[in-house]
Amino acid sequence: MKELKKLTRIEELTELEAQAELRYLAKEIAYHDSLYHEKDQPEIDDATYDALRQRNTAIEIKFPHLIRPDSPSKKVGYKAAPGFAKVTHLTPMLSLDNAFTEIDVIDFIERTRRFLNLNSDAIEIIAEPKIDGLSCSLRYENGFLKQAATRGDGEIGEDVTENVKTIKKIPHHIPYTDIVEIRGEVYIKHSDFNELNSLRTKSGEPQFANPRNAAAGSLRQLDARITATRPLEFFAYGYSKYPSNLKTHLEGLERLKEWRFPVNPLIELCPSINSILSFYKKLETLRVGLDYDIDGVVYKINTLALQQRLGNVARAPRYAIAHKFPPEQAQTILENIILQVGRTGVLTPVAQLTPINVGGVIVSRATLHNEDELKRKDIRIGDHVLIQRAGDVIPQVVKVLNPDRPDRSMPFEFPDVCPICESYIERLPEQAARRCTGGLYCSAQAALRLKHFVSRDAFDIEGLGAKHIEHFFEQGLLKTPIDIFTLEARDRNSINSLATREGWGLKSAKNLFSAINNHRHISLERFIYALGIPQIGQTTAKLLAYHYGSYPQWKMAMQKAAEGQEEECQNLLSIDGIGPSVGEDLLSFFKERHNIEILEKLEQHITITDSISPTLGHSPISGKVIVFTGTLTTLTRAEAKARAEFLGAKVAGSVSSKTDYVVYGADAGSKADKAKELGIELLTEDQWLALIQQVD
Ligand code: IVH
Repeated sequence: MKELKKLTRIEELTELEAQAELRYLAKEIAYHDSLYHEKDQPEIDDATYDALRQRNTAIEIKFPHLIRPDSPSKKVGYKAAPGFAKVTHLTPMLSLDNAFTEIDVIDFIERTRRFLNLNSDAIEIIAEPKIDGLSCSLRYENGFLKQAATRGDGEIGEDVTENVKTIKKIPHHIPYTDIVEIRGEVYIKHSDFNELNSLRTKSGEPQFANPRNAAAGSLRQLDARITATRPLEFFAYGYSKYPSNLKTHLEGLERLKEWRFPVNPLIELCPSINSILSFYKKLETLRVGLDYDIDGVVYKINTLALQQRLGNVARAPRYAIAHKFPPEQAQTILENIILQVGRTGVLTPVAQLTPINVGGVIVSRATLHNEDELKRKDIRIGDHVLIQRAGDVIPQVVKVLNPDRPDRSMPFEFPDVCPICESYIERLPEQAARRCTGGLYCSAQAALRLKHFVSRDAFDIEGLGAKHIEHFFEQGLLKTPIDIFTLEARDRNSINSLATREGWGLKSAKNLFSAINNHRHISLERFIYALGIPQIGQTTAKLLAYHYGSYPQWKMAMQKAAEGQEEECQNLLSIDGIGPSVGEDLLSFFKERHNIEILEKLEQHITITDSISPTLGHSPISGKVIVFTGTLTTLTRAEAKARAEFLGAKVAGSVSSKTDYVVYGADAGSKADKAKELGIELLTEDQWLALIQQVD
């Protein structure tokens, strides 16, 4: 990053200095705009960027005759990137002016009041969370989603229609036939972001720095199939031009909800300045618990006639302002780097920090992600570092603040053996991660696997918390999941029974045993998830459970595939959503003799119930295996798949003798041919729609 200049007070700036600084700021802001928008790799945080822009505006106010033709205040955003077709927005996608203090907000209301010559009490404001994603404009014609575009430079954006069509929450048709452009924010949830980053680590790809960059990087993919694999979400917040019969912004939002757009649930109507400011404070506290990033509150004048009268100035409307939150960043010292062993043996370097308050939360640890990240940022013990946190996202080290200090320590070296069990550490080819090879022998892994096994989405044994597991593990009472179900019987024969131990009594021991006994029945999808196989999260576990239906069928199929039986391998990979890498992890699990032994012993203690996909009782396609091929006209593939699964069908990626229907659109190729060959029923898109319409 370039050094920021030492600032002279605006009042003391000479004309020559002002001119030089405006030149510098134009260049600097353009540089950061390009890093942020085109490369999705910002070097400075939002607050520092905002400060640059504020300084530029302040100098321009004092020296209006020095405003440059390339001034950042004249530009809305950034240039559309090469590689995408260009799209001209119906009306420009504007930016928002920022308020940083309550005084700025009061000024905004006052300004508005003066402009309209109204009493400020007569002005209703809608307060909305400012979502920290990237803005997107969706054009509907005759009710159909015709075009989706990024903001670009505000006038011209990038055509990301195909990419946007993969976002499940965005409707493909709306009950409105005039041309309309819906504006909103594409974002990624924290939980999905963390999962996406750990998947990327597994596959050796660099991690995204934050959810906003992940959303931008995912939406602006030249290949929409990649976008389709990313967990993009959307909040609609406005229009290029409101439909003509609406009177207020709030009605506009209601209309968006009626059309099935996701609209943020926290939006409020604020009738007074006080209610605006308390909304801001409320949101500041709620922010920590939200599953998505917000970086402030947007205030908008509710009455559309007033919005119209207010109009725009340069790059922003006069009827709205963004009240930004202070940055959740702080500087501290990195005291040590430790290695954490995960459930699957992956070693994650973690920074131990001098504790520091970041946006109201004391942070003493931050993830360093992996070895490559550590090297790329050249983070060393003893460094002064900038850290940041956003909502649920694990705190991160943004960068080293004093990389040129002469007495820095040496770069961190990964050890050759696991810090917990001393097993050899491997670095898998093509993966950024290093992994302890100790497996169940490694106590860190074994205890974490047990915790996962009893966790809420797995066996859900509430009485057996993390602390109990650690304790029982240290005491040698629990080593494998089987031990959980034999605990009571072993305890009965023990001279040192649980009820007599410190911190336990007859009642608590009895409660624990009944909690375990109440969970001896489990559905197949939960059971598969409980096994903690790398890459088999809840979604994949469900896919497997719905596909194979019962535990014996699943186990047999997995064992056959692990032995290399071609048909079962194909069958596994035919499941839409299961790729070769997931398949490999699954089969590695079944290739391990001791895993099969654990399964066989577990079977004696528990009952695994069959899985039936969420069926509508009268659905004509429930339980059927469907393959989609070619381009469908009324639905995207993702939508068709979701609909079919909702109606209880299984959607497969390839045609086999198990396929019931092949639905074909335009340009259907080999899959349709194969269906004909195998005598499988082929349906046109219309026939398919007619079939599923029966249950609508
Ligand atoms: S209204 C003309 N509402 O903030 C006003 N914007 O700096 C258009 N944003 O580019 C924006 N949440 O990407 C509006 N509830 C919200 C928003 C929001 C996030 C983004 C949007 C815009 C940027 C303005």
